[in-house]
Amino acid sequence: MTALTPVPELAGVVAASPAMRDLLKLASRLAEGRTPVLIQGESGTGKDLLAHWLHHAGPRRDYPLIKVHCPSIPSELLESELFGHEAGAFTDAKQPKAGKIELAAGGTVFFDQVQDLTPNLQAKLLRVVEDCRFERLGGTETIEVDVRFVAASSVDVRQAVSAGTFRQDLYHRLSVVPLTVPPLRERRDDILPLAETFLARERQRRTTPARAFARETSEALKGYAWPGNVRELRSVIERAALYTTSDVVASAALPPHILEQPATLWAGRDRRPSLKEIEKEYIRYVLDQVAGQQTRAAAILGISRKALWEKRRRYGIR
Ligand SMILES: Nc1ncnc2c1ncn2[C@@H]1O[C@H](COP(=O)(O)OP(=O)(O)OP(=O)(O)O)[C@@H](O)[C@H]1O
Ligand SMILES: [Mg+2]
Repeated sequence: MTALTPVPELAGVVAASPAMRDLLKLASRLAEGRTPVLIQGESGTGKDLLAHWLHHAGPRRDYPLIKVHCPSIPSELLESELFGHEAGAFTDAKQPKAGKIELAAGGTVFFDQVQDLTPNLQAKLLRVVEDCRFERLGGTETIEVDVRFVAASSVDVRQAVSAGTFRQDLYHRLSVVPLTVPPLRERRDDILPLAETFLARERQRRTTPARAFARETSEALKGYAWPGNVRELRSVIERAALYTTSDVVASAALPPHILEQPATLWAGRDRRPSLKEIEKEYIRYVLDQVAGQQTRAAAILGISRKALWEKRRRYGIR
C-alpha cells in the first residue's frame, strides 16, 4: 500500500485513499519528463512531499533538488540567488557565483509559495521556464540548463491572477499540469494509515511502546476536521506518543478539542465552505458510514440512487 516506489527518500509516504493514490501515480509518470508542475493545496496537505516525489521518482533523483522558499528571501537578493552573478555585478559581488537554477542542473527547482514572487521576478522566471535559458546578473553569456520547475502554493493562484498580482502567462506555463492535494478531511481513508505511520516512527524513536490506537482514539481521529491537515495529525500523534506508556494509545492522550467533535461540518476551518463543498463532504461522510452501500446512502440523503450516482460523478466521489 505504501511502497509505491522503492526509492528510500520516498519511504513512509502514505497513500491509502484513491485520491492520493491517483495523485502519486500521476506524479510518478510526470517524474519521467520535464513539464512544469504547479502543486496547490491547503497548508500541511503534503505539497513539499509531492515535490519530493516528482523529483525522486524519476531520473532527476541523481541530481539536485533545490528549494526556493519565495517569501523568506528578500526580492533584491532572490534574483542573484536564482540566477547567480558575475564579479562586479553589484557592490558585494566580489566573486562570480552560480545561482540556484544553475546548481540544480539535471534536477529540479522547487518554488514554494510561488504566489509571493515579485512582478519583476515573475517576468524573469517566465523566460527560464519557457526556454531554460538565462544570464547571470551582470553576465552576457546565455546559460542553458536542463531543470524541471515545480511550484507550490497554498492559495489559489488563479485568484492571484484575477487580482492582478500574478502573471497569467506564468500561471499558464507553470500549471500545464496542475496537481491539487486534497485536504485531509476529504480523504479520510488516509487518516488512520498516516496516524499508524507516525506512531510507528515514534515507536522506533522509543518515545512510546504503543503499537495501536484504542477504538475511541481511532474514531476521534477519523471524525476530526483536521484544519491543519497532515502536519496537524503528525503533531497530534507525536504528542499522544509522549503521553502513552502502554501498548495502546488511549483517547485521553489526544488534545481535548479533537475529542469534542464540533457539531457542524464547517467548524474548525479557516474559511467558510460553499454549499457545494458541504454537499460533497456530506455525501462522502454518509457513504463512509454505510460502507459504500448505494441504496442505504441514497435513503439517508433522501435522493434517488440515480441522483446519488450523478452527484458522485459530478464531485468525483468514488
Ligand atoms: N501522504 C503522506 N504520507 C506521509 N507523510 C505525509 C504525507 N503528506 C504529508 N506528510 C507529512 O506532513 C507534513 C506536512 O507536509 P508538507 O510539508 O509536504 O505540507 P505542505 O503542503 O508543503 O505544507 P505548507 O503549505 O505549510 O508548506 C510533513 O511532515 C510531511 O512529511
Ligand atoms: Mg510546504
